[in-house]
Amino acid sequence: MFDVNQLREDFPILSRKVNGQPLVYLDNAATSQTPKQVVEVISDYYYRYNANIHRGVHKLSQEATDAYEKARATIQNHFNAAHPHEIIFTAGTTESINCIASGYASLLKKGDELLISALEHHSNIVPWQMLCEKTGALLKVIPMTLEGTLDMNAFELLLNSKTQLVFVNHVSNALGTINPIQEIIDKAHQKGAKVLIDGAQASPHIKADVQALDVDYYVTSAHKLCGPTGVGMLYGKSALLNALPAYQGGGEMIATVTFEKTTYADLPHKFEAGTPNIAGGIAFGAALDYMNGIGIETIARYEAELLAYATTALQRIDGLKIYGEAKEKTAVISFNVGSIHPYDIGSILDQMGIAVRTGHHCAQPIMDFYKIPGTIRASFSFYNTFEEIDRLEAGIRRAVAMLQ
Ligand code: ALA
Repeated sequence: MFDVNQLREDFPILSRKVNGQPLVYLDNAATSQTPKQVVEVISDYYYRYNANIHRGVHKLSQEATDAYEKARATIQNHFNAAHPHEIIFTAGTTESINCIASGYASLLKKGDELLISALEHHSNIVPWQMLCEKTGALLKVIPMTLEGTLDMNAFELLLNSKTQLVFVNHVSNALGTINPIQEIIDKAHQKGAKVLIDGAQASPHIKADVQALDVDYYVTSAHKLCGPTGVGMLYGKSALLNALPAYQGGGEMIATVTFEKTTYADLPHKFEAGTPNIAGGIAFGAALDYMNGIGIETIARYEAELLAYATTALQRIDGLKIYGEAKEKTAVISFNVGSIHPYDIGSILDQMGIAVRTGHHCAQPIMDFYKIPGTIRASFSFYNTFEEIDRLEAGIRRAVAMLQ
């Protein structure tokens, strides 16, 4: 039984006041809130068994190693990876993408082509531009449509035998569009290209099965999934990760070191140089356990109701325009009202205790496409309520009345 009021009790932050008003937290696409169960896992680590992993013979180190590896297994099961060593802990989606981009620097040659989409976050654009500068590869862009979806006909025309890699987000952070990743993966594979899917915005709403998708790389961050910031994962097929050069050098990622030559450790350690975010990794596992305890499909169903309710509510407001009207969407509404600057509405909403994100959402090409400086983005989670959406609607109406 999904009981939003009971679930909200897991999140003490949701009962705080902001600017004298009860908080309405609608910036979940930036960072989800963290339930007590996950915070307790972090404090338990520091209170009881804080130690470095994979190194010590002592009890605390063994306990920390076991908990960290158990979290890796939880992540493996959640995404249905074939092996635990295909899950690499990283600092988050951005680092995961940079790890792959750095590895491909010695695998690409001049004239190779890389395909990204017009809906990408800067973290799935800039590392590939840097890679192209280093290698002479060409970056091509799958265009978007006015409703905020990918132009799949153009995608097919862009794909060719020179395409080495395709990078697409599973869900657009700025618009909420769910991209047809299965079709993208299948068509890219037919041309021999590998596919990286940025799952940061999809993971809280959609459970990706990496084997069923047959995706080559899938990346995400814990902080979108009720986990802490500063930790995420890179999934890659074993054969590809084995062939990919190491990202960072240091302790933990080596097999042997002499001054003449270093040999690297097996997966996953080859990509995990240095002391990792141990508490974060353990908490990532706990966050997935928490979300699975509710059920990702249950979460998605409830969020779809919130989205439908909020879309109807916001469309009642004169002059409000929603950007991103794909049929397949997660619970994100990006909008502007008339010519009012998004920042002005966002600031007034904040005065009323309503937290939204304003600006370009690290997706400037999308804003350029619509010829706008940015949007106001309300992004919902399973702990949001219909009453909070009523407060959002009323808040926007008040802000607009003050600004017009
Ligand atoms: N990528 C995050 C967002 O969309 C930070 O807000």
